Amino acid sequence: MTTYAIIGGTGLTQLEGLSIKQMHNLDTPFGSPSAAVLRGEYGGHEVLFLARHGHPHRIPPHQINYRANLWALKQAGAEAILAVNAVGGIHPAMGSGHLCVAHQLVDYTWGREHTFFEGEIEHVTHVDFSYPYDEALRQRLIEALQVLGYPHSSHGVYAATQGPRLETAAEIVRLERDGCDIVGMTGMPEAALARELDLPYACLALVVNPAAGKAAGLITMADIERELAQGIDKVRAVLGRVLAQP
Ligand code: HPA
Repeated sequence: MTTYAIIGGTGLTQLEGLSIKQMHNLDTPFGSPSAAVLRGEYGGHEVLFLARHGHPHRIPPHQINYRANLWALKQAGAEAILAVNAVGGIHPAMGSGHLCVAHQLVDYTWGREHTFFEGEIEHVTHVDFSYPYDEALRQRLIEALQVLGYPHSSHGVYAATQGPRLETAAEIVRLERDGCDIVGMTGMPEAALARELDLPYACLALVVNPAAGKAAGLITMADIERELAQGIDKVRAVLGRVLAQP
């Protein structure tokens, strides 16, 4: 059986229903991960869990130590990563509450520690990143969404922005022109670092607000939190089903 690791984002700092068997307080050559890596059982299946923003939620997207997080999960025995991300919806199909299994991304982040291949390394290495998400893992998420009957998109281009501020309406128009469907702040460099460690990685995105300029009015944290509270049970159910798949 594959050992899955779930990286929980905003709204998923703990996996309710996870019976914790072990807490790994790991240190890595890149510093400390956001939180302890939890090993436990979820719906009867072994899983690792890491709260991306720490537990409680305290680390903003641009200050997350993505390298330490990925390294710690690999060290703890992760063989595949299921990443959960809260996002803004750009494409008209990506309304609040919608779930999207991203198939591509565009990286707009800057200044983040984004590679393991630097410093004293033996070979300069360029990993292939044509298709940033693992197709078999994506299909597992899509199958789970289908079985559960949740409205979802099996494709979507994820725009990774720097944050922590939200975008301007003009920036969203630009992202749309670039072909992006959803926007979030934590998709990169996480996906690329997983690839560098040879860890299959897929992203389950929950839309928690219309992106800037896509709806009348401003985006409030209260609106985002309400959507998260409403949608997170669906995310938990999808993850549970993926773990249950043989
Ligand atoms: N933009 C960027 N990141 C986000 C958003 C958004 O609108 N919503 C949730 N995370």
